[in-house]
Amino acid sequence: MLFGRKDAQKSKELTDMTGKVVFVTGANRGIGYMTVKQLALQGATVYLGCRNETRGLEAVANLEREVAEAYSTTSSPQPAPGKIVYHHCDLSRPALAKDCGDKFLERESRLDVLVNNAAALPDPSFTPHDVVTINHFGTYQLTEALLPLLTKTSQTNIDVRIVMVSTNGHRMGRASNHNIRFRTREDYFTDYHKDLIPLWQAYCVSKLALFLATKALQRRLLSPSPSGPATHPITCISVHPGAVNTFSNRVPYLPGWLVTPIVNLFFISPEAAAKTLCYAAASLEVAEDKEKFRGAYILPGFKIEPDTDITKNEALQDEVWESTVEILKAWPEAEQVAA
Ligand SMILES: NC(=O)c1ccc[n+]([C@@H]2O[C@H](COP(=O)([O-])OP(=O)(O)OC[C@H]3O[C@@H](n4cnc5c(N)ncnc54)[C@H](OP(=O)(O)O)[C@@H]3O)[C@@H](O)[C@H]2O)c1
Repeated sequence: MLFGRKDAQKSKELTDMTGKVVFVTGANRGIGYMTVKQLALQGATVYLGCRNETRGLEAVANLEREVAEAYSTTSSPQPAPGKIVYHHCDLSRPALAKDCGDKFLERESRLDVLVNNAAALPDPSFTPHDVVTINHFGTYQLTEALLPLLTKTSQTNIDVRIVMVSTNGHRMGRASNHNIRFRTREDYFTDYHKDLIPLWQAYCVSKLALFLATKALQRRLLSPSPSGPATHPITCISVHPGAVNTFSNRVPYLPGWLVTPIVNLFFISPEAAAKTLCYAAASLEVAEDKEKFRGAYILPGFKIEPDTDITKNEALQDEVWESTVEILKAWPEAEQVAA
Protein backbone atom coordinates (compact mmCIF):
# COMPACT_ATOMS: atom_id res chain seq x y z
CA MET A 1 0.00 0.00 0.00
CA LEU A 2 1.56 3.29 -1.02
CA PHE A 3 -1.13 5.75 0.00
CA GLY A 4 -3.80 5.45 2.67
CA ARG A 5 -6.62 7.40 4.22
CA LYS A 6 -6.09 9.07 7.56
CA ASP A 7 -8.55 6.74 9.30
CA ALA A 8 -7.63 3.60 7.35
CA GLN A 9 -6.44 1.55 10.30
CA LYS A 10 -8.74 -0.12 12.84
CA SER A 11 -7.24 -1.38 16.12
CA LYS A 12 -6.57 -5.02 16.96
CA GLU A 13 -6.87 -6.34 20.46
CA LEU A 14 -3.70 -5.75 22.47
CA THR A 15 -2.54 -7.68 25.52
CA ASP A 16 -2.62 -6.15 29.00
CA MET A 17 0.96 -4.86 29.33
CA THR A 18 0.80 -4.09 33.05
CA GLY A 19 4.19 -4.87 34.64
CA LYS A 20 5.92 -5.06 31.25
CA VAL A 21 8.71 -2.78 30.09
CA VAL A 22 8.92 -1.38 26.56
CA PHE A 23 11.58 0.79 24.92
CA VAL A 24 10.59 2.82 21.83
CA THR A 25 13.44 4.66 20.09
CA GLY A 26 12.97 7.96 18.25
CA ALA A 27 9.74 8.55 20.14
CA ASN A 28 9.71 12.30 20.77
CA ARG A 29 7.57 12.74 17.65
CA GLY A 30 5.92 11.00 14.74
CA ILE A 31 4.99 7.32 14.75
CA GLY A 32 7.18 6.54 17.77
CA TYR A 33 5.36 9.15 19.89
CA MET A 34 1.97 7.62 19.11
CA THR A 35 3.32 4.13 19.78
CA VAL A 36 4.44 5.18 23.27
CA LYS A 37 0.98 6.59 23.91
CA GLN A 38 -0.86 3.43 22.83
CA LEU A 39 1.44 1.09 24.78
CA ALA A 40 1.32 3.22 27.95
CA LEU A 41 -2.47 3.03 27.69
CA GLN A 42 -2.09 -0.77 27.71
CA GLY A 43 -0.38 -0.47 31.11
CA ALA A 44 3.29 -0.85 30.06
CA THR A 45 6.13 1.16 31.52
CA VAL A 46 7.39 2.78 28.35
CA TYR A 47 10.85 4.28 27.91
CA LEU A 48 10.78 7.06 25.36
CA GLY A 49 14.07 7.19 23.46
CA CYS A 50 15.21 10.56 22.16
CA ARG A 51 18.56 12.03 21.16
CA ASN A 52 17.84 15.40 22.79
CA GLU A 53 16.94 15.63 26.47
CA THR A 54 14.87 18.83 26.22
CA ARG A 55 12.74 17.48 23.36
CA GLY A 56 12.48 14.10 25.07
CA LEU A 57 11.29 15.48 28.41
CA GLU A 58 8.82 17.76 26.65
CA ALA A 59 7.40 14.73 24.80
CA VAL A 60 7.12 12.79 28.09
CA ALA A 61 5.19 15.69 29.70
CA ASN A 62 2.82 16.00 26.73
CA LEU A 63 2.24 12.25 26.60
CA GLU A 64 1.54 12.05 30.33
CA ARG A 65 -1.19 14.64 29.84
CA GLU A 66 -2.62 12.97 26.71
CA VAL A 67 -2.59 9.49 28.27
CA ALA A 68 -4.34 10.70 31.45
CA GLU A 69 -6.95 12.47 29.32
CA ALA A 70 -7.55 9.40 27.11
CA TYR A 71 -7.80 7.13 30.15
CA SER A 72 -10.30 9.41 31.91
CA THR A 73 -12.60 9.59 28.89
CA THR A 74 -12.63 5.91 27.89
CA SER A 75 -15.79 3.96 28.60
CA SER A 76 -14.37 0.46 28.02
CA PRO A 77 -12.44 -1.39 30.77
CA GLN A 78 -8.75 -0.72 30.37
CA PRO A 79 -5.58 -1.30 32.40
CA ALA A 80 -4.32 1.65 34.46
CA PRO A 81 -1.81 3.56 32.30
CA GLY A 82 1.88 2.77 32.74
CA LYS A 83 4.68 5.23 33.40
CA ILE A 84 6.48 7.03 30.58
CA VAL A 85 10.21 7.53 31.17
CA TYR A 86 12.79 9.46 29.17
CA HIS A 87 15.87 7.52 28.05
CA HIS A 88 18.64 9.22 26.12
CA CYS A 89 19.09 7.52 22.76
CA ASP A 90 21.43 8.80 20.07
CA LEU A 91 22.17 6.35 17.27
CA SER A 92 24.34 8.65 15.18
CA ARG A 93 27.48 6.68 16.11
CA PRO A 94 27.70 3.04 17.14
CA ALA A 95 29.53 3.99 20.37
CA LEU A 96 26.61 6.25 21.36
CA ALA A 97 24.10 3.53 20.51
CA LYS A 98 26.01 1.08 22.70
CA ASP A 99 26.09 3.62 25.50
CA CYS A 100 22.30 3.99 25.24
CA GLY A 101 21.90 0.23 25.59
CA ASP A 102 24.44 -0.05 28.44
CA LYS A 103 22.72 2.74 30.40
CA PHE A 104 19.37 1.00 29.88
CA LEU A 105 20.80 -2.19 31.42
CA GLU A 106 21.94 -0.14 34.43
CA ARG A 107 18.46 1.23 35.11
CA GLU A 108 16.10 -1.67 34.27
CA SER A 109 15.86 -5.32 35.29
CA ARG A 110 13.66 -6.38 32.37
CA LEU A 111 12.81 -5.49 28.78
CA ASP A 112 9.77 -7.15 27.21
CA VAL A 113 9.54 -5.22 23.95
CA LEU A 114 12.11 -3.22 22.02
CA VAL A 115 10.65 -1.07 19.24
CA ASN A 116 13.46 0.10 16.95
CA ASN A 117 11.60 3.02 15.43
CA ALA A 118 14.24 5.78 15.27
CA ALA A 119 15.58 6.47 11.82
CA ALA A 120 17.15 9.06 9.60
CA LEU A 121 14.57 9.58 6.87
CA PRO A 122 15.69 10.74 3.43
CA ASP A 123 15.70 14.32 4.65
CA PRO A 124 18.34 16.93 3.70
CA SER A 125 19.40 17.32 7.35
CA PHE A 126 21.16 13.93 6.94
CA THR A 127 23.88 12.67 4.60
CA PRO A 128 23.76 9.19 3.01
CA HIS A 129 26.52 8.23 5.49
CA ASP A 130 24.33 9.31 8.44
CA VAL A 131 21.37 7.39 7.04
CA VAL A 132 23.27 4.09 6.79
CA THR A 133 25.02 4.61 10.14
CA ILE A 134 21.87 5.47 12.11
CA ASN A 135 19.38 3.14 10.44
CA HIS A 136 21.54 0.05 10.23
CA PHE A 137 24.71 0.20 12.33
CA GLY A 138 23.33 2.30 15.22
CA THR A 139 20.13 0.26 15.44
CA TYR A 140 22.02 -3.04 15.22
CA GLN A 141 24.47 -1.91 17.92
CA LEU A 142 21.67 -0.83 20.28
CA THR A 143 19.83 -4.14 19.79
CA GLU A 144 23.04 -6.06 20.43
CA ALA A 145 23.64 -4.11 23.66
CA LEU A 146 20.09 -4.85 24.86
CA LEU A 147 20.07 -8.55 23.95
CA PRO A 148 21.28 -9.78 27.36
CA LEU A 149 18.31 -8.06 29.01
CA LEU A 150 15.83 -9.26 26.37
CA THR A 151 17.07 -12.84 26.67
CA LYS A 152 17.02 -12.66 30.48
CA THR A 153 13.42 -11.41 30.33
CA SER A 154 12.52 -14.23 27.93
CA GLN A 155 13.32 -16.74 30.69
CA THR A 156 10.31 -15.52 32.70
CA ASN A 157 8.10 -14.05 29.96
CA ILE A 158 7.49 -16.23 26.89
CA ASP A 159 6.34 -13.24 24.85
CA VAL A 160 9.39 -11.02 24.39
CA ARG A 161 9.47 -9.12 21.10
CA ILE A 162 11.79 -7.02 18.98
CA VAL A 163 10.01 -4.78 16.49
CA MET A 164 12.08 -3.31 13.66
CA VAL A 165 10.37 -0.43 11.91
CA SER A 166 11.16 -0.93 8.26
CA THR A 167 9.65 0.45 5.07
CA ASN A 168 8.66 -0.95 1.69
CA GLY A 169 11.66 1.07 0.53
CA HIS A 170 13.79 -1.93 1.51
CA ARG A 171 12.50 -3.48 -1.75
CA MET A 172 13.15 -0.46 -3.96
CA GLY A 173 15.99 1.31 -5.78
CA ARG A 174 19.43 -0.17 -5.11
CA ALA A 175 17.86 -2.45 -2.51
CA SER A 176 15.93 -4.28 -5.25
CA ASN A 177 19.11 -5.17 -7.17
CA HIS A 178 19.56 -8.95 -7.06
CA ASN A 179 23.34 -8.53 -7.14
CA ILE A 180 23.42 -6.45 -3.96
CA ARG A 181 26.13 -7.57 -1.51
CA PHE A 182 27.08 -6.64 2.06
CA ARG A 183 30.65 -7.91 2.37
CA THR A 184 32.61 -4.78 3.20
CA ARG A 185 32.20 -1.26 4.54
CA GLU A 186 32.27 -0.03 0.93
CA ASP A 187 29.23 -2.19 0.12
CA TYR A 188 27.23 -0.28 2.76
CA PHE A 189 28.77 3.16 2.24
CA THR A 190 28.87 3.02 -1.53
CA ASP A 191 29.11 6.20 -3.57
CA TYR A 192 25.44 7.19 -3.35
CA HIS A 193 26.22 10.58 -4.90
CA LYS A 194 26.28 8.87 -8.29
CA ASP A 195 22.54 8.18 -7.85
CA LEU A 196 19.74 10.50 -8.87
CA ILE A 197 18.39 10.70 -5.29
CA PRO A 198 21.32 9.68 -3.05
CA LEU A 199 19.45 9.97 0.28
CA TRP A 200 16.60 7.77 -0.91
CA GLN A 201 19.03 5.11 -2.18
CA ALA A 202 20.96 5.13 1.10
CA TYR A 203 17.65 4.89 3.00
CA CYS A 204 16.53 1.84 0.97
CA VAL A 205 19.89 0.08 1.39
CA SER A 206 20.06 0.86 5.13
CA LYS A 207 16.57 -0.55 5.68
CA LEU A 208 17.35 -3.66 3.60
CA ALA A 209 20.50 -4.28 5.65
CA LEU A 210 18.52 -3.97 8.89
CA PHE A 211 15.76 -6.21 7.52
CA LEU A 212 18.26 -8.94 6.59
CA ALA A 213 20.06 -8.59 9.95
CA THR A 214 16.70 -9.04 11.71
CA LYS A 215 16.09 -12.29 9.82
CA ALA A 216 19.56 -13.49 10.79
CA LEU A 217 18.98 -12.44 14.41
CA GLN A 218 15.69 -14.35 14.53
CA ARG A 219 17.40 -17.54 13.35
CA ARG A 220 20.25 -17.09 15.83
CA LEU A 221 17.91 -16.49 18.74
CA LEU A 222 15.93 -19.61 18.03
CA SER A 223 18.85 -21.89 17.41
CA PRO A 224 22.39 -20.61 17.89
CA SER A 225 23.76 -23.78 16.27
CA PRO A 226 21.98 -25.46 13.33
CA SER A 227 21.03 -28.49 15.44
CA GLY A 228 20.73 -26.72 18.80
CA PRO A 229 17.55 -26.19 20.81
CA ALA A 230 15.53 -22.94 20.71
CA THR A 231 17.26 -21.10 23.52
CA HIS A 232 15.79 -17.62 23.34
CA PRO A 233 12.19 -17.68 22.18
CA ILE A 234 12.12 -14.00 21.25
CA THR A 235 9.88 -12.89 18.38
CA CYS A 236 11.47 -10.50 15.86
CA ILE A 237 9.05 -8.71 13.56
CA SER A 238 9.67 -6.09 10.88
CA VAL A 239 6.86 -3.67 10.03
CA HIS A 240 6.04 -1.15 7.35
CA PRO A 241 3.90 1.58 8.97
CA GLY A 242 2.47 2.84 5.67
CA ALA A 243 2.92 6.20 3.97
CA VAL A 244 2.59 8.43 7.01
CA ASN A 245 2.27 12.17 7.35
CA THR A 246 5.03 12.97 9.81
CA PHE A 247 6.48 15.72 7.68
CA SER A 248 3.89 18.24 6.45
CA ASN A 249 4.70 20.73 9.21
CA ARG A 250 8.39 20.63 8.25
CA VAL A 251 8.19 21.36 4.52
CA PRO A 252 10.62 24.23 3.78
CA TYR A 253 9.11 27.55 2.63
CA LEU A 254 5.48 26.32 2.92
CA PRO A 255 3.24 26.79 5.98
CA GLY A 256 1.94 23.66 7.70
CA TRP A 257 -1.69 24.90 7.61
CA LEU A 258 -1.53 24.86 3.82
CA VAL A 259 0.41 21.65 3.24
CA THR A 260 -1.11 19.42 5.93
CA PRO A 261 -4.70 19.09 4.63
CA ILE A 262 -3.42 18.17 1.16
CA VAL A 263 -0.89 15.64 2.46
CA ASN A 264 -3.54 14.09 4.71
CA LEU A 265 -5.54 13.11 1.63
CA PHE A 266 -2.83 10.66 0.64
CA PHE A 267 -0.97 9.73 3.83
CA ILE A 268 -2.21 8.10 7.03
CA SER A 269 -1.81 9.76 10.42
CA PRO A 270 1.00 8.80 12.85
CA GLU A 271 -1.74 7.53 15.18
CA ALA A 272 -3.06 5.10 12.56
CA ALA A 273 0.49 4.05 11.64
CA ALA A 274 1.33 3.33 15.29
CA LYS A 275 -1.37 0.66 15.30
CA THR A 276 0.80 -1.54 13.07
CA LEU A 277 3.77 -1.11 15.44
CA CYS A 278 1.53 -1.85 18.46
CA TYR A 279 0.13 -4.91 16.71
CA ALA A 280 3.67 -6.26 16.32
CA ALA A 281 4.64 -5.17 19.84
CA ALA A 282 1.64 -6.21 21.89
CA SER A 283 -1.21 -7.88 19.98
CA LEU A 284 -2.99 -10.95 21.23
CA GLU A 285 -2.75 -12.51 17.76
CA VAL A 286 1.05 -12.46 17.86
CA ALA A 287 1.07 -13.76 21.45
CA GLU A 288 -1.14 -16.69 20.47
CA ASP A 289 0.76 -17.72 17.33
CA LYS A 290 4.38 -16.64 17.73
CA GLU A 291 5.72 -19.18 15.24
CA LYS A 292 3.69 -17.56 12.47
CA PHE A 293 5.12 -14.11 13.21
CA ARG A 294 8.79 -14.93 13.88
CA GLY A 295 10.83 -13.15 11.22
CA ALA A 296 7.64 -11.87 9.57
CA TYR A 297 7.09 -8.57 7.78
CA ILE A 298 3.79 -6.87 8.62
CA LEU A 299 2.04 -4.22 6.56
CA PRO A 300 -0.76 -1.80 7.48
CA GLY A 301 -3.95 -3.82 7.80
CA PHE A 302 -1.94 -6.35 9.89
CA LYS A 303 -1.13 -8.46 6.86
CA ILE A 304 2.03 -10.59 6.64
CA GLU A 305 3.86 -9.79 3.42
CA PRO A 306 5.88 -12.67 1.90
CA ASP A 307 9.65 -12.39 1.55
CA THR A 308 11.25 -11.51 -1.75
CA ASP A 309 14.08 -13.53 -3.31
CA ILE A 310 16.48 -11.04 -1.74
CA THR A 311 15.03 -11.00 1.78
CA LYS A 312 14.69 -14.78 2.03
CA ASN A 313 18.31 -15.36 0.97
CA GLU A 314 19.84 -16.81 4.15
CA ALA A 315 23.38 -16.49 2.77
CA LEU A 316 22.80 -12.76 2.30
CA GLN A 317 21.23 -12.49 5.79
CA ASP A 318 24.34 -14.12 7.25
CA GLU A 319 26.59 -11.91 5.14
CA VAL A 320 24.97 -8.78 6.62
CA TRP A 321 25.23 -10.19 10.12
CA GLU A 322 28.87 -11.19 9.84
CA SER A 323 30.08 -8.07 8.04
CA THR A 324 28.18 -5.81 10.47
CA VAL A 325 29.97 -7.42 13.42
CA GLU A 326 33.36 -6.96 11.71
CA ILE A 327 32.68 -3.39 10.56
CA LEU A 328 31.56 -2.36 14.05
CA LYS A 329 34.74 -3.84 15.57
CA ALA A 330 36.84 -1.74 13.22
CA TRP A 331 34.67 1.41 13.30
CA PRO A 332 36.96 4.39 12.60
CA GLU A 333 38.56 5.88 15.70
CA ALA A 334 37.56 9.36 14.60
CA GLU A 335 33.92 8.38 14.87
CA GLN A 336 34.26 6.79 18.31
CA VAL A 337 33.09 8.83 21.25
CA ALA A 338 34.99 9.34 24.47
CA ALA A 339 33.14 7.68 27.37
N1 LIG B 1 6.74 8.48 7.61
C1 LIG B 1 6.61 7.50 6.71
O1 LIG B 1 5.90 7.63 5.70
C2 LIG B 1 7.34 6.19 6.89
C3 LIG B 1 7.19 5.20 5.91
C4 LIG B 1 7.85 4.00 6.06
C5 LIG B 1 8.62 3.78 7.17
N2 LIG B 1 8.76 4.75 8.12
C6 LIG B 1 9.62 4.46 9.28
O2 LIG B 1 8.91 4.78 10.47
C7 LIG B 1 9.84 5.17 11.49
C8 LIG B 1 9.40 6.47 12.12
O3 LIG B 1 9.32 7.43 11.11
P1 LIG B 1 8.59 8.84 11.29
O4 LIG B 1 7.90 9.13 10.02
O5 LIG B 1 7.84 8.88 12.57
O6 LIG B 1 9.87 9.79 11.35
P2 LIG B 1 10.18 11.14 12.14
O7 LIG B 1 8.94 11.89 12.48
O8 LIG B 1 11.25 11.82 11.34
O9 LIG B 1 10.80 10.58 13.49
C9 LIG B 1 12.04 9.92 13.46
C10 LIG B 1 12.51 9.79 14.88
O10 LIG B 1 13.85 9.26 14.84
C11 LIG B 1 14.69 10.14 15.59
N3 LIG B 1 16.07 10.15 15.14
C12 LIG B 1 16.59 10.70 14.01
N4 LIG B 1 17.93 10.59 14.03
C13 LIG B 1 18.26 9.95 15.19
C14 LIG B 1 19.48 9.57 15.78
N5 LIG B 1 20.66 9.84 15.22
N6 LIG B 1 19.44 8.94 16.98
C15 LIG B 1 18.27 8.68 17.59
N7 LIG B 1 17.07 9.06 17.10
C16 LIG B 1 17.08 9.68 15.89
C17 LIG B 1 14.05 11.52 15.43
O11 LIG B 1 14.56 12.39 16.44
P3 LIG B 1 14.60 14.00 16.22
O12 LIG B 1 13.23 14.50 16.50
O13 LIG B 1 15.62 14.43 17.22
O14 LIG B 1 15.03 14.24 14.80
C18 LIG B 1 12.59 11.15 15.60
O15 LIG B 1 12.28 10.97 16.96
C19 LIG B 1 11.20 5.22 10.82
O16 LIG B 1 11.89 4.02 11.09
C20 LIG B 1 10.87 5.31 9.34
O17 LIG B 1 11.90 4.76 8.54
C21 LIG B 1 8.14 5.97 8.01
